[in-house]
Amino acid sequence: MKALILSGGSGTRLRPLTYSQQKQLIPVANKPVLFYAIEDVIEAGVDEIGIILGPNKDQVIDTVKSKAWDVPIEFIYQGEPKGLAHTIIVAEKFLDDDFVMYLGDNILRDGIVRHEKRFSSMKSDASVLLTKVDDPQRFGVADLNQDGSIRRLVEKPKVPPSNYALVGVYFFKPMIIDACKSIKPSWRDELEITDAIQWLIEHGYKVDASFVDGWWKDTGKPEDIFEANRLILDDILTRNDGLIEGSRIMGRVIIEENAKIDRSVIKGPCIIGEGSIISDTYIGPYTSVGIGCQICGTEVEDSIIMDESRIINAGKIVESLIGRNVKIQEGVALPKGHRLIVGDNSDISL
Ligand code: G1P
Repeated sequence: MKALILSGGSGTRLRPLTYSQQKQLIPVANKPVLFYAIEDVIEAGVDEIGIILGPNKDQVIDTVKSKAWDVPIEFIYQGEPKGLAHTIIVAEKFLDDDFVMYLGDNILRDGIVRHEKRFSSMKSDASVLLTKVDDPQRFGVADLNQDGSIRRLVEKPKVPPSNYALVGVYFFKPMIIDACKSIKPSWRDELEITDAIQWLIEHGYKVDASFVDGWWKDTGKPEDIFEANRLILDDILTRNDGLIEGSRIMGRVIIEENAKIDRSVIKGPCIIGEGSIISDTYIGPYTSVGIGCQICGTEVEDSIIMDESRIINAGKIVESLIGRNVKIQEGVALPKGHRLIVGDNSDISL
């Protein structure tokens, strides 16, 4: 089996971060979201991975290549983004075997091994993963028969036929390529994968549903990224490879190599990245601090601080998503006031 992982798209709901960073590279518990998908498909036993690239293609290639993976990875450029089913047409040459398509901004707590086994044993033509959600309007939704089989799939319905959302992981046989070529663009001018699977159902192919029990997150919006960060940090185990002086560490905390904690209080679950310096600071639960950050005289809780950022005497920071190389500090010059140099579409609560 092969894997097709999607790492394109413009990530409009995560601006301004996605102006400079591909959305699948945003770190959750200090690991790019995309890496969770790569790890899951490798764990499920695929022998080759194709990664679909979009606007920031070089960034994705560099990040993926910064690590050694157990299976070969091929990069496939999508060009103009025309929908999930369009990526399958673009990757046609690569998809000469059964494959799992995994949206690179999705995270599943329990991985996909169980679902891969079910797909292989059921001998179905496609298998979709479903889970119950409170807000099905945001997703593709399945209308189910009494026996749990799929009657119909609809993309982001105003009146959802059920609470079962399509998780962004799909198992296919290569005939899905014909389905993708046969459908027309949707109202949002995209070739929807949901419509391609619906085409399979209407043409008599066997489409199976596999239900997800553990948590699942589509990290399309900041709230979802915070939630994914909390869920991953909830499962970490304490590890200290750094240097701690005159500080109190409570709960489960990962302190990476060359990180330095001075006169601070750290309350887990949280993770402090390699080489970061934390001094006279309180780091509270559900915080991920990236590599090479400096945080001094500040309180931070329930937040993601990305690599190389500096936060000095900045009061209390909560539920914040702070990009790379950001500088936040107390202003001392007169006139006193907030001095902001902020990119388009930023979101600030003072
Ligand atoms: C896509 C799919 C949708 C699915 C969702 C899961 O939505 O079209 O059916 O439920 O991924 O993450 P999108 O992220 O394009 O809005």
